[in-house]
Amino acid sequence: MKALITAGGHGTRLRPITHTQNKHLIPIANKPILNYALEYVKEAGITEVGIITNKDGTEVQDVYGDGSKLGLSITYIPQEKPSGLADCVRIAEPFLGDEPFIFYLGDNIIVGGVKRFVEEFQKNRSNCHLVLAKVPDPERFGVPEIRNNQIVGIEEKPKKPKSDYAVTGIYLYDKTIFEAVNSIKPSARGEMEISDAHQYLIDKGLKISYSEITGWWKDTGKPSDLLEANRLVLDNISKNIAGDVDSNSVISGRVIIEKGAKIQNSNVRGPAIIGAGTQIINAYIGPYTAIEQNCIIKNSEVEFSIISQNCEILNQKIRIEASLLGKNVKIIEANSKPYTNRFILGDQSLIEIR
Ligand code: G1P
Repeated sequence: MKALITAGGHGTRLRPITHTQNKHLIPIANKPILNYALEYVKEAGITEVGIITNKDGTEVQDVYGDGSKLGLSITYIPQEKPSGLADCVRIAEPFLGDEPFIFYLGDNIIVGGVKRFVEEFQKNRSNCHLVLAKVPDPERFGVPEIRNNQIVGIEEKPKKPKSDYAVTGIYLYDKTIFEAVNSIKPSARGEMEISDAHQYLIDKGLKISYSEITGWWKDTGKPSDLLEANRLVLDNISKNIAGDVDSNSVISGRVIIEKGAKIQNSNVRGPAIIGAGTQIINAYIGPYTAIEQNCIIKNSEVEFSIISQNCEILNQKIRIEASLLGKNVKIIEANSKPYTNRFILGDQSLIEIR
């Protein structure tokens, strides 16, 4: 079996972070989002992976190369322009050939991985296996209609959903999917919808099976989704203190302090992760916080946040919370007159000050 993973798109709802970074490389618990997809497929025994990328830019290639560091063999498949998920499958046919495969949307993180779904697909011997999750807002997703435990129809973002399930971003197919993606037409939003390909398979009477998952989280589309994903992943870490912690500091709960990190006169309350080379000085780091490498947090408090590498947070009087910082961001105190707030912000930055 092979895997096809998406890692393109523009991440418009995650600007300004995505002005300079592919959204799939934003860190969740100090690892790029895409790492989770790659680790999950590896854990399911799949090593041949195709990654769909944007036509321009080599960011993803620069991070993962040929995949050998992760024990994978990666082929990059550039997409001319974002034309929908069915188009991703269509252009990957030469890579996938006749083999069954898992199609995984690289911005989905699923607690527990995908091994179980691969096994269920193989056991069912179906043409297509979908992974469903109950959601409060099915109108945002592909939605199945289910009768007598059979999927009898799929609609993309329906105004009146026929069930309270979403089709998640994990799909398993045999080669019959290629006929579907080559036969459908673009939707009203101008995309080749994967839901239309599924409906095509249903109309042809092919075998569609499904699994249901609980406790998953989709689409790292918005900053609040990223913070939520970070929370979910941190909730499953185990304590590991490899960095230096001085005797005036208190580390409580499940905290990872990577080798080369320094904690001085501070309180770190897990679940939290502190990256290599980061210094936490006279500070409080609260639950559900991930701080990447080489940051300095001094005389400040940070909780429920994602702080990317090389950031500085110094002398902040009010706790920073529910925040998402890209690389090299500085939040510092004005130390020369006039003592005002001063900002140098990129396009579409958001600051909320108390
Ligand atoms: C896409 C699919 C949709 C699916 C969702 C899962 O939606 O079109 O059917 O339910 O992924 O993440 P999009 O992310 O393009 O809104």
